[in-house]
Amino acid sequence: MKHKILILIFLSLSFSLASTKLESLEKDLSLIVHKTATCGCCKKWMKHLDSLGFETSPEDHQNLLPIKEKYGIKPEYGSCHTAVSKEGYVFEGHVPGEYISQFLAENNPNAIGLSVPGMPMGSPGMEVGDKFTPYDVLILYKDGTSEIYAEVRKK
Ligand code: CU
Ligand code: CU
Repeated sequence: MKHKILILIFLSLSFSLASTKLESLEKDLSLIVHKTATCGCCKKWMKHLDSLGFETSPEDHQNLLPIKEKYGIKPEYGSCHTAVSKEGYVFEGHVPGEYISQFLAENNPNAIGLSVPGMPMGSPGMEVGDKFTPYDVLILYKDGTSEIYAEVRKK
């Protein structure tokens, strides 16, 4: 009897382990990061994302303008790199990974993605000691407009 219970516990444990593994495989968090070869902050941002469970792959370009045009990122929303998800959403600049996860878990039918315009000090990948400039994460819409998605006021 004792034996049977132990076997049951073992079976249910290994089953739940297998299903959590499956879940993480189903959630595809891979991003292609369009950047220039010489930019160091892009690599630091990619490390930040990878530490949160994303899988970033770099794609270097001489000129990023055609990429911004292709994905509909207006100059005022632009930054040093453009990440593109499997679904085709864009994440422009130093967007904190937690907002990318949040965005991908939501349903935003009119959005093309998120952006942190410029390169605010203290955003992920832009760490310079303790320096921090408050910044907003914008949600970008298909019609070219944007709204504040999140206000980041501390590191
Ligand atoms: Cu940068
Ligand atoms: Cu960058």
